[in-house]
Amino acid sequence: MEELMAYYQCAIMEMETKFKVLNQQFSIRFERNPIEAIKSRLKSSDAIKQKLVKKELPFTPDAVEENIKDVAGVRVICSFTEDIYMLAECLLKQDDVELITMKDYIKKPKDSGYRSLHLIVKIPIFLRDEKKMMKVEVQLRTIAMDFWASLEHKLRYKKNINPEVTEELAKELGECANLCASLDYRMETLKNKIVKI
Ligand code: GTP
Ligand code: MG
Repeated sequence: MEELMAYYQCAIMEMETKFKVLNQQFSIRFERNPIEAIKSRLKSSDAIKQKLVKKELPFTPDAVEENIKDVAGVRVICSFTEDIYMLAECLLKQDDVELITMKDYIKKPKDSGYRSLHLIVKIPIFLRDEKKMMKVEVQLRTIAMDFWASLEHKLRYKKNINPEVTEELAKELGECANLCASLDYRMETLKNKIVKI
C-alpha cells in the first residue's frame, strides 16, 4: 500500500509538470499565464478506507486502484473560463494521456452552485523496470470558482448548523455562486476586449 501511495505521488508530480510546461509555453508565446496556481493533494489512508468501507470493499492495493479515482488530486486554478477548456484540450491531446471520464460542472453546475471541470485521466509513470498507468483526478476552475468552493466547503462542513438555517444558507450560497459566475463572465469579456488570447 505504501508503494502504491508513492506511485500516486509520482503521478501527481507528472501531472503538475504537464501543466507547468503548458503554462510556460503559453507565457512565452502569448505573454500571459493561464494558470494562477496548482494545488495538489494525496488522499489520506483514512479517507480511502472510509470510501472502501462504504462500497463494502477491502482495503487492498487492487481495490484502491480499481475503485478510488481520486487518490491523486490536482487542482488547476485558471485565470479565465476559456483557459480551463484550452488547458483541458491541450492535456487530452497528449499521446500519453488517457481520458477516463469528464464532468463539466461549468456548463451544468451542481445543485449547490459548484462549478469546475473534472477530468479523471490515466497517465504513465516510469519506474525502474516498468511503465505504470496511474489515475489522477484533475479539477480545473477559475479563481472565482475556487474562492466559492473553498468557502462553501468551510461553511457547509461547519458543525452544529441550525437546521432552519440550512435551507436559507443553501439559497444564499447558490446566489453567491451565480455572482462568481457573472464576475468570471465580465472579466473574460474585459480580457477579450484587451487581448486576443
Ligand atoms: P467524491 O465526492 O470524491 O466521492 O466523488 P464524486 O463521484 O461525487 O465526484 P464529483 O466529480 O462530483 O466531485 C468530486 C470533488 O469535487 C469533491 O471531492 C470536491 O472536491 C468537489 N466538489 C463536488 N461538489 C462540490 C460542492 O458542492 N462544493 C464543493 N466545495 N466542492 C465540491
Ligand atoms: Mg473526491
